[in-house]
Amino acid sequence: MRRADCVAFLKRVLPRFGLCWAGYRKVHRTVCKRLSRRLRELRLLELEAYERRIDTDPAERARLDAMLRIPVSRFWRDRELWEWLAETALPELARDARASGSGTLRAWSCGCAAGEEPWGLALLWHLRLAARFPDPALEILATDADPAMLERARAALYAPSSLRELPADLRERGFVEKDGLLRLRPEIRAAVSFLRQDLRREMPDGPFDLLFCRNLVFTYFARDLRCKMAGRFRERLRPGGLLILGAKERLPERVEGYAPAAAGLAVHRRLSRGPGGFPRARPRPPFSRAGRSGSGDRSSSCGRRSGGSRGGCRSAGNAPLSRAFS
Ligand SMILES: C[S@@+](CC[C@H](N)C(=O)[O-])C[C@H]1O[C@@H](n2cnc3c(N)ncnc32)[C@H](O)[C@@H]1O
Repeated sequence: MRRADCVAFLKRVLPRFGLCWAGYRKVHRTVCKRLSRRLRELRLLELEAYERRIDTDPAERARLDAMLRIPVSRFWRDRELWEWLAETALPELARDARASGSGTLRAWSCGCAAGEEPWGLALLWHLRLAARFPDPALEILATDADPAMLERARAALYAPSSLRELPADLRERGFVEKDGLLRLRPEIRAAVSFLRQDLRREMPDGPFDLLFCRNLVFTYFARDLRCKMAGRFRERLRPGGLLILGAKERLPERVEGYAPAAAGLAVHRRLSRGPGGFPRARPRPPFSRAGRSGSGDRSSSCGRRSGGSRGGCRSAGNAPLSRAFS
């Protein structure tokens, strides 16, 4: 399969899955390899034939959807974020929860891959903060569309390379070695539950104090879906709760009801709804890392003025598949 043909195919079909080519620019080779393998399995010579197949075969469409998932993650991805969570955000949230008499802090990690993000949070809480904050308890829900990733997440067994950025105290106290792999200690596991959910179709109920949505919606999803997701996340955050994006991601412009929570980090605080609705997001602090090289989408917009997206990255409104995702 020629790369140019694969790129053209992806540009045509991604919108039908509520996805956007811009997010795939850097990772399309991985998807093209999977597609090439699949064509060989089906004994198809051309992507046009495969495209006809997905038009008529829902099982193959679901298979392609799965091939479009990029399950890369690692512990302590975006180190500055985790340090800020450890030193500032989590103690603040814990103090607020205690002051308000709430016995639980609730976090949701969506697109949790093999569990690196929720387990990273559980490790941080259990090993560094729980002694200082015996109350509230931290409950973490982790969701992903991919059953194989969830199985790996539940097994909590990792190659040392995926822990290389984790601070030494958490690595040494949180894991035991087994046959060259590192297994998370059982006492850390109680805080996390895993659930299979495709974000385009369903989400858990809130309210959450922390919502991690990193390197998924605001990288791969079509712009109109990003706007919808930003609104649905807001509904699931309690006022003051934090929406955490990947370091290179940004919220769509003019999305309402969030304010930047920390200079230089892609974290947004949910604002309270006033009598006239949600206030517009306030001017952003300098996104030192995000702003430079971001694959995050700076031109997409939400709200009454735009009603959607520009730049040819909308989900395909008339295709049966994307209707299910709107
Ligand atoms: C690039 S990983 C991000 C992992 C982690 N959040 C991080 O930033 O390191 C994206 C994850 O999202 C999952 N995913 C893709 N599409 C999804 C969808 N529609 N609903 C839920 N999860 C999805 C993939 O299976 C994958 O595990």
